[in-house]
Amino acid sequence: MLFFGNQPSSVAFIFSPTRFSHRPVDKRRRVGYRLYMLNIDHELSSLEQAGLYRRLISLGSASGPHITIEGRRVLLLASNDYLGLAMHPRMKAWAQEAAAAWGTGSGASRLISGSTTLFDELEDCLARFKQTEAALVFNTGYMANVGLLQALAGPEDVIYSDELNHASIIDGCRLSRSRIEVYPHRDIEALAGLLEKCGHARRRIIVTDAVFSMDGDIAPLPELAALGRSYDATLIVDDAHGTGALGPTGRGTLEHFGLAGSPDIIVMATLGKALGSFGAFVAGSHDLREYLINRARSFIFTTALPPSVVASAMEALNILKDEPELCRRLTQNAEFMRAGLKTLGFNTLDSRTQIMPLLIGNPDKAVAMARRLFEEGIFIQAIRPPTVPQGASRLRITVMANHDIQDLEWALDMIGKTGKELGII
Ligand SMILES: Cc1ncc(COP(=O)(O)O)c(C=O)c1O
Repeated sequence: MLFFGNQPSSVAFIFSPTRFSHRPVDKRRRVGYRLYMLNIDHELSSLEQAGLYRRLISLGSASGPHITIEGRRVLLLASNDYLGLAMHPRMKAWAQEAAAAWGTGSGASRLISGSTTLFDELEDCLARFKQTEAALVFNTGYMANVGLLQALAGPEDVIYSDELNHASIIDGCRLSRSRIEVYPHRDIEALAGLLEKCGHARRRIIVTDAVFSMDGDIAPLPELAALGRSYDATLIVDDAHGTGALGPTGRGTLEHFGLAGSPDIIVMATLGKALGSFGAFVAGSHDLREYLINRARSFIFTTALPPSVVASAMEALNILKDEPELCRRLTQNAEFMRAGLKTLGFNTLDSRTQIMPLLIGNPDKAVAMARRLFEEGIFIQAIRPPTVPQGASRLRITVMANHDIQDLEWALDMIGKTGKELGII
C-alpha cells in the first residue's frame, strides 16, 4: 500500500529494522531503538495528527513522464527533470563512458585529489553558458547556497532574503550569522525601505530564488538588480528552476530578462533539475571562484562529484544547444496546463513557469486530493508546511517537455473531476 500523507500506519513499521532487512530482529537492538526514540515518537505522532507527516514513495522505474509505483503505471506530474534529459540516450552514454574511463568515484575532495580536467571542462562550459568569467561546481544546490552565503557573509553583514526563498538559502543565511532581513515576497518597495534604513554594514547582499520552487512565479530581477546598484548591495540569484527552462536559449531567468552575464549579479544554478544530471554551480567572476574555493566549507570539506555526473552535466549543455525544441515544448506544455487549470477554476497563484501550484489551503485536503489522483493514475505531491506557509497547502504540478498533450488533457479532466468531488472548485 502506498503511503500518502495521513494514511493510518504504524510509526514502528517505518522505523522497524525489518523494513530494511529480512534478517530476524535482534530484540536487544529494538529495545535500544525504542529508548533512543522516546521523544521522536511523540513528535512523529504530532506530525501525523497535524496532517504533516511525510513519507518516501519508492518508484519502480526511472523518473519520466510515466513511472511505475508498486507495479502500476502512472502519469508523473511532479518531476524537476523538466526537459526529460535524465533518460536522454546521449546523457547516459556520456555517463557510461566517463565511468569506464575515470571510474565510479572521485576519491577525495577537489582540494585533496578529486579535481580532474573533467571539472575544468565543465566549469568552462558553465561559465560560457551563463556568460560569466568563471564557474565553480558544488555537489548540490543546497550545498552551493549554504557555501556561498556562509563564505560571503558574516556577523558584520546584512542579507536581504525573500520570504519564500528556498530552504537552502534560509539555512545559508543562518549559517552566515549575518543580520537577516526577510522581505515580503517579491515586494520591491518593502525591500527598498529596508535597504534605506540599513545603517552600517560591511557587505549587503540581496538573495532571491529566480523561479520560486513552490509557486512557479518569477522574481523581479531587473528591479532587484537596480535596487542592488542603488544601495551598494550584491544580488545573488538562485536559478535552480529557471536554468534549462527559461530564456530564448534555456540559459535561465537572467537570459529571460536580458540580464545574462551582468557582472554585478552572482548566479547559483543546479545541474540536477532541467539539466538532468546532478550537482550545482555558482557563476560569477574569477575572484569569486577563487574566494569560494578558499572559503566555502561545503565546497572544501566534501568528496567531489563522480565523473559520470560531471560528464553528463557537460553533455546536457550540448543537448540544450542541439535540441532547442525541448525548451519550446516545455513552455508550450506549461502554458497548456496552466490555462487548463485556470479554466477549471483552480487558483494557480502567479505561476508563469513549468511549476504550477494548485492552491488548496488545508493540508488534509491537499493529501486527499493527491491520493484520489493517484488512484486515478496521476502522481502529484501534496506540499504542506513547513515547505509552504500555514494555510497554503497545495498540489505542486510540474510538466516536462516530453509529456504528450493527450496525457495532459486527460490529467486536466481527472484533476477537474477530483477537485469538484472534494469541493476544491
Ligand atoms: C530554489 C532551489 N534552490 C536550491 C535547491 C537545492 O538544489 P539541490 O536539489 O541540487 O540540492 C532547490 C531544490 O532542490 C531549489 O528548489
